[in-house]
Amino acid sequence: MITKFNILNKPINDLSGFDSKWIKAFARENDLELVESINDLSTDKAIFDFQNNKLFLHMLLDGESSSIHFDLDEGSVAYRAKSVSKSNELIARAIGCKSHYRPRVLDATAGMGRDSFIMAKLGCDVLMQERCEPIYLLLENALIRLFENQPELKKSLHLQKSNSIESFEQLEMIDVIYLDPMFPIRKKSALVKKEMRLFKKLAGEDLDADSLLTHALTANVKRVVVKRPKGAPLLKALKPSHEINSKNFRFDVYLA
Ligand SMILES: C[S@@+](CC[C@H](N)C(=O)[O-])C[C@H]1O[C@@H](n2cnc3c(N)ncnc32)[C@H](O)[C@@H]1O
Repeated sequence: MITKFNILNKPINDLSGFDSKWIKAFARENDLELVESINDLSTDKAIFDFQNNKLFLHMLLDGESSSIHFDLDEGSVAYRAKSVSKSNELIARAIGCKSHYRPRVLDATAGMGRDSFIMAKLGCDVLMQERCEPIYLLLENALIRLFENQPELKKSLHLQKSNSIESFEQLEMIDVIYLDPMFPIRKKSALVKKEMRLFKKLAGEDLDADSLLTHALTANVKRVVVKRPKGAPLLKALKPSHEINSKNFRFDVYLA
């Protein structure tokens, strides 16, 4: 279990895109201890590191140094986002997009921000909430880089560091709550991608996912959508209004 989060201090002329003064301010703001070397990782200690404006988090995985960072403007999600449309994205059906209507969505389990990004590309306004501090920081950095290249998304993607269960009661101007809690990794863990294993070391297992759904269903919204891996049990064993199935996952849709 990782309990200590540090950040690598950089010399003034380092090419990371940030200087030592900036990193010290970032460390103060986010309660991170400064370290001078990346080599003192331990099972309970992870180290943040800026490289060319990207924020990485170094951790030990199976005794070896590994790192995680989030990208929305590169890789598979960026490719998918290029051709996003209401007809080719199941998530559009799940959240209730219509020809001339785009819901305002609360993504209550923001994670790497991929689903939020796709919903924003569909034209939705998305409020993202993430409770896990290191995941929040990695996502915040991915959004900063995304907005540099796609500034038009700034007005539709908003990130908050919070436990979403606490916000459901006071929700205003939100049509849909979207939930995608962590699901326990199955036995064949060697097959699970390294990125997912690192992510899971930070987020844990979201053992309160049932309660997330029951609280969401009391909110003043038109629908609650839950993304689940194929074959996963229903949250809280609650039957949805309908399901939308794909090869690897399904959406359970609860209409108000
Ligand atoms: C499976 S990930 C979500 C992945 C995301 N849909 C994406 O596209 O990248 C689940 C995330 O939800 C966060 N989470 C779980 N329960 C939460 C809560 N009550 N409030 C805020 N964040 C929560 C976890 O910390 C984790 O980062």
